[in-house]
Amino acid sequence: MSGDRIRLDAPAKLTLTLRVLGTRPDGYHDLEALTVMISAPADTVVVTAAPAGVLDLTVRGVGTDIPRDATNLAVRAARAVLPPDAGVTIDLEKIVPAGAGLGGGSADAAAVLRAVRDLYGLAAADIERAAVDLGSDVPVCLHGGPVMMRGRGERLEPVALADDLHVVVATPAFAIATPPVFAAWDRLGGPAGRRVAAVPDAVAHLVDGLVNDLEPAAEAIAPGLGAFRSRLEAIAGQAALLAGSGSSYWIPVTDAVAANALAARVRNELAVAAFAGHALRSAVA
Ligand code: C5P
Repeated sequence: MSGDRIRLDAPAKLTLTLRVLGTRPDGYHDLEALTVMISAPADTVVVTAAPAGVLDLTVRGVGTDIPRDATNLAVRAARAVLPPDAGVTIDLEKIVPAGAGLGGGSADAAAVLRAVRDLYGLAAADIERAAVDLGSDVPVCLHGGPVMMRGRGERLEPVALADDLHVVVATPAFAIATPPVFAAWDRLGGPAGRRVAAVPDAVAHLVDGLVNDLEPAAEAIAPGLGAFRSRLEAIAGQAALLAGSGSSYWIPVTDAVAANALAARVRNELAVAAFAGHALRSAVA
């Protein structure tokens, strides 16, 4: 069936560097983050046109403890932009772990915004406005390409990667909510993250080191997180960096073969989810 049904990938987002510049009067934090979407993990979102008043969600896959009601970000995204005489059903296949610093909910919301735009002929500006209101990471997911993200997350400067960027993302068995990590960053007096000097060629023209300022805050409040990083780094033989506010860490690797091999070792030795992916180099229309 086509015309009234749209199937989209909702790739995870990965912060390659994340600086927290300070607190804002609205309670959020000013950020500067070099961010890409990655080929894996990615959710799949199928949105089907339905009569007015219908807004149904089904969820399959991992993270089935995510909300299935009106509080789910994908449902909120549809509600924010659906014309009054229209409805949708949303089928989500979850692969991106929730509470893992990978923007899974935001990716789903961005995919729903695009699908509703295409099903009902909405203007790009309408879904862009809705994206900002839905959450700090929704605009970057809607853009889809590599960006320097600033402000709360709404100011996006597209950047070009100089090369392919292959990564392994490893997610421990526990999730971390974002607000307590920012609160810990405040409480700890705004600690700067560890600077990892080995910068992949793909982004060497953009940054002179990789860092995540949320890493010390996340490791301070999540028992076992720092130990997880140490075990991961021992397997990889190189530094791992926290993804967003955690709980995932990521490691740059040379190519897809190395990514697959390392992801397999991490799955075997740590019994956790590990994904081999690469950065998506273009924005999504
Ligand atoms: O915008 P969103 O609802 O996704 O943000 C979740 C939480 O993350 C916020 O409630 C806030 O605690 C924190 N946050 C922040 N500064 C940002 C983005 C998120 O403090 N720029």
